[in-house]
Amino acid sequence: MLKKSLVAVGLAAVLALSACSGSPATGGTGGDEITLGFAQVGAESGWRTANTKSVQESAKTAGINLKFSDAQQKQENQIKAIRSYIQQKVDVIAFSPVVESGWDTVLKEAKDANIPVILTDRAIDSPDKTLYKTFLGSDFVLEGEKAAEWLIKDKEAATGDVNIVELQGTTGAAPANDRMSGFADVIKAESKFKIVASQTGDFTRSGGKQVMEAFLKSNPKIDVVYAHNDDMALGAIEAIEAAGKVPGKDITIISVDATKDGMTAAADGKINFIVECNPLLGDQLMDLTKKVLAGETVPERVVTEETTFDSEQAKAALPDRKY
Ligand code: AHR
Repeated sequence: MLKKSLVAVGLAAVLALSACSGSPATGGTGGDEITLGFAQVGAESGWRTANTKSVQESAKTAGINLKFSDAQQKQENQIKAIRSYIQQKVDVIAFSPVVESGWDTVLKEAKDANIPVILTDRAIDSPDKTLYKTFLGSDFVLEGEKAAEWLIKDKEAATGDVNIVELQGTTGAAPANDRMSGFADVIKAESKFKIVASQTGDFTRSGGKQVMEAFLKSNPKIDVVYAHNDDMALGAIEAIEAAGKVPGKDITIISVDATKDGMTAAADGKINFIVECNPLLGDQLMDLTKKVLAGETVPERVVTEETTFDSEQAKAALPDRKY
């Protein structure tokens, strides 16, 4: 590991290593290459697939040796992967925490091993900010706020109650918590907006479909679906169509991500509004990895820039959509 070579290992050993390789050795490969251990959440959504591809391609382009693991949406698998990266003495660990809580112990282990950690995409709720160097990703609260602001305008003329059902992301995940609170904080300004049901669909298409089927059965009047991601909105659309209703017309649909599939549904008028959440974090992650390892100061928070799309805007943007 580069940092250990320079800090912890004695001068003689460093000289010996340098003599063999021409420059200080890195840990994961034993060569000059930087080794990054990346513990991914899983493959639950189109967004996640695009994020994984972005990280893998950017590592290749940046000449970084990437060790990649898929935790299948389970925190214990992610913790195991991080521990294995510590054992392998990788140079940097990056991960997208499946849930917000419960990371302090393993991140202390990384810190004790002098391995810097970068959070990507999702935050943790630890008050100890020394456990990681930076957090790269979206502002999920803002995403929820944008969804609610659009809804308020769209339903300006509505005089009666506007019944909303919410498809939450994975329970305990930062994007689920924040998209929920951002949305709720804005719509509470107008009492006609009622969240009549809110349940997790685990960010998956099948989860969205299943939960929406149940919502349709138990709620006679649903005006709006607020889905925390495109996959769940797409699952909900299947359930709505199977129930003989027209998505985007009988029921207004709002979603987050703006993946190609989501944008296609928006262009077709089945999703009315999408808040973008950009998964293409690979290049920024590789850049931060190099800077952190070189001991450069990096901002403690790097926020991704994002936009929104109504149906017409989705139609226009679709041909150039990268994910
Ligand atoms: O953390 C980002 C979220 O995770 C995306 O919005 C969702 O699609 C994914 O599974």
